[in-house]
Amino acid sequence: MREHLPEPPCPDSLQRPLRDLRISVTDRCNLRCLYCMPQAVFGRKFVFLRHAELLSFEEIVRAARQCIALGVRKIRLSGGEPLLRHGIENLVEMLARLHTGDGKPIELAMTSNGTLLAKRARDLKNAGLARLNISLDALDEAVFRRMCGSRGTPIAAVLEGIAAAQAAGLTPVKVNTVIKRGNNESEILPLIHHFRHTGIILRFIEYMDVGLSNGWQLDDVVTAHEILSKIDAEYPLRPAGVHCPGEVAKRWEFTDGGGEIGIIASVTQAFCHECGRLRLSTDGKLYTCLFASEGSDLRDMLRGHCSDDALRRRIAAVWRKRCDCYSQLRHAMTGNPTRKIEMSYIGG
Ligand code: GTP
Ligand code: 5AD
Ligand code: SF4
Ligand code: SF4
Repeated sequence: MREHLPEPPCPDSLQRPLRDLRISVTDRCNLRCLYCMPQAVFGRKFVFLRHAELLSFEEIVRAARQCIALGVRKIRLSGGEPLLRHGIENLVEMLARLHTGDGKPIELAMTSNGTLLAKRARDLKNAGLARLNISLDALDEAVFRRMCGSRGTPIAAVLEGIAAAQAAGLTPVKVNTVIKRGNNESEILPLIHHFRHTGIILRFIEYMDVGLSNGWQLDDVVTAHEILSKIDAEYPLRPAGVHCPGEVAKRWEFTDGGGEIGIIASVTQAFCHECGRLRLSTDGKLYTCLFASEGSDLRDMLRGHCSDDALRRRIAAVWRKRCDCYSQLRHAMTGNPTRKIEMSYIGG
């Protein structure tokens, strides 16, 4: 008898359905953020993946199609810096053609550092990208250089990228700001001031212990509570509702109509209980958690002439046995894990 193909909802072992797919298209980046790719580790001698090790666009699309058949409704491209992957607009075009079994489109978004965006936002929109989230940790050049190891890239390039994304209709544009104690708390209010009344949604992210190279310590985390108190004292806020299930940011709005902001409190207010995110790494492994130490290889299957059905069964099997809850359990852990994948391989 023929085995039935798995279909949505595809619950994991904690009953969380598969909803989002995050795809890292390159492990390279032109910045060296302290919290992600610190220069001391990702220096001149660091060996990045070779082109042959990366999934091709065709391989990515095949995997994405089977994830959609299992319930994925949102795909986010990231990296490293996704605009460093040659021809990324073509991948956007290929993914934008995908839809669910009943003909509904997939939401296609990207997370970028914005430095290379200004001239490309329009092409990305034309290729079918719906939204862009852009990282920016400071408005002061010296702080930006320290936080992001920008090696001469001016903040103006990022601001032009943000403006171009908004002009191209890649909206709502969200700006992601990671706060690391002793480094850029001073930028919270200037950033708020800059982005209020612009329609751009500024989001502050608690510094996370992703990977093993950033030397994370709990003391370096500026908590959501601290960030909110600082903002609220100057620009009063009230909570705003939830947009979609499982979203990582808690939304707040200015009481004077200045727009909304978001807080991503993955350290102090973990959101694992509703996490439906699967990650496909640059070299074709599936990771079921941002803090995972091991992935499940798909690349060999993709290159070994497997059928689409076999691919779907494999993805479903990986998801079904998933029980990750890292952020929720972190506080009860004794000692640090000795192996964790770096953020740039799995796209944040
Ligand atoms: P939206 O669709 O706009 O809500 O995107 P997003 O917030 O899911 O994506 P983005 O790439 O902008 O991520 C913002 C921050 O949230 C980054 O620091 C991510 O690493 C963090 N984040 C995203 N997903 C997860 C997750 O599953 N777990 C944890 N702990 N953090 C996450
Ligand atoms: N903690 C919190 N956020 C991080 N990001 C990268 N590394 C970390 C970390 N250690 C964020 C980036 C980007 C997103 C993909 O992830 O700022 O906006
Ligand atoms: Fe590059 Fe983004 Fe990592 Fe910064 S956070 S090093 S911009 S991939
Ligand atoms: Fe999901 Fe893992 Fe993040 Fe928890 S820590 S929200 S399980 S990715």
